[in-house]
Amino acid sequence: MIPSDVKATLSFSDGSPSMDLPIYKGSVGPNVIDIRKLYGQTGKFTYDPGFLSTASCNSTITYIDGDKGELLYRGYPIEQLAQNCDFMEVCYLLLKGELPNPQEKKDFDRLVSVHTMVNEQMQFFLRGFRRDAHPMAVMTGLVGALSAFYHDSTDVHNPEHRAIAAIRLIAKMPTLVAMSYKYGIGQPYIYPKNSLSYSANFMRMMFATPCEDYEPNEVLVRAMDRIFILHADHEQNASTSTVRMCGSSGTNPFAAIAAGVACLWGPAHGGANEACLNMLGDIQKQGGVEKIGEFIKQVKDKNSSVKLMGFGHRVYKNYDPRAKLMRETCHEVLGAVGLGNDPLFKLAMALEKIALEDEYFVARKLYPNVDFYSGIVQRAIGIPVPLFTAIFALARTVGWIAQLDEMIGDPEYKIGRPRQLFVGSEPRHVKPLAQRG
Ligand code: CMC
Repeated sequence: MIPSDVKATLSFSDGSPSMDLPIYKGSVGPNVIDIRKLYGQTGKFTYDPGFLSTASCNSTITYIDGDKGELLYRGYPIEQLAQNCDFMEVCYLLLKGELPNPQEKKDFDRLVSVHTMVNEQMQFFLRGFRRDAHPMAVMTGLVGALSAFYHDSTDVHNPEHRAIAAIRLIAKMPTLVAMSYKYGIGQPYIYPKNSLSYSANFMRMMFATPCEDYEPNEVLVRAMDRIFILHADHEQNASTSTVRMCGSSGTNPFAAIAAGVACLWGPAHGGANEACLNMLGDIQKQGGVEKIGEFIKQVKDKNSSVKLMGFGHRVYKNYDPRAKLMRETCHEVLGAVGLGNDPLFKLAMALEKIALEDEYFVARKLYPNVDFYSGIVQRAIGIPVPLFTAIFALARTVGWIAQLDEMIGDPEYKIGRPRQLFVGSEPRHVKPLAQRG
């Protein structure tokens, strides 16, 4: 880390000695004040629930400028990556720091494709689930179970194990997501076909049956690939921080990624795409565009718990650049499947317009995030709504793995162990049961 010439000084009004704190410079973005010695020197902790002002690590992977609405993977703008690269190139970039040249890309594509099958025993494990289980419940179990199948890549401190686990996870996630879908609808699993691209292979595993093959439509495959690119990493979000925290204990990579899947499921995070499409469906059922006003009133009512799903973000205080790209993809996909007049897309655009002009949203800098349009795209591709978050997990796996690898390779990393402000009972004595009133 590069020290700044400027130092911060923390002083106390009770006469305790003040303390100088070093500042480190970011290559872009805010600098950080190093408080690691604060407790040792002052006996005090900092208090920051939700990490509103706390950097939990240093990272070279992803940068977000929330005010500008800018997202960079390894320095490259997301718009350029979405335009010029496929998901495999983006995976290579996130894992290795540079975009691949043609030979490196060919080798990487091949490396991932030879790991797409899962141990045959996985299907018996899958059979233990109810058929109507939520795909994220199934995925949390399946990803965690990988550590019971691939013992030769479970030592997180061994760089070779980490590298094999990374490729296995990236390669097997589409197979697992498709298997959990097929299991839910009672169809036979479709084995991966390694001659296809990553995204086309996933779509074939989802939509082919042993009776009829699936002919991937180029526009839809490209849209799926774009969904993967846009969701691949997003710096220290809740699920990534969960993966880092879980991995910091030295647990195996599969277990750490399973923790990320579990965290992603929540509606404030990856579950928002499903919640957003359900919200649009509900408004549509109640009368569509005409009911937007009433819905927005509920969202603004402090006594209601209704939120405009797919809106707002901890970091973006401007339009999420991924939402812009997703809206563009929406137009292409709906055109390709003959849904140019899709009522849900029209409703989403009307809702966006009204919200962006409303003082409540303007004052709070609430803009559409990636989940606002991704559900409409996925639905048009034929992905069932409950599977949306599992697809987010599939795409985010590379980000989780890259971040875990970065943390383990960082000589400054320590087990994650936050402190607390204790406000409970002072020490007291236990009374025998008979004396408790
Ligand atoms: N609808 C209505 N009000 C909102 C919304 C929303 N979607 N988001 C934030 N607010 C309000 C919030 O009530 C608060 O108002 P006030 O200042 O009057 O109390 C203010 O805006 C600030 O919000 P916050 O909850 O303090 O912000 P946060 O940074 O803690 O939460 C968020 C960020 C993403 C959890 C939140 O905006 C949200 O719940 N959005 C809806 C769910 C969603 O779309 N999540 C996907 C995020 S992007 C994909 C991903 O990362 O997984």
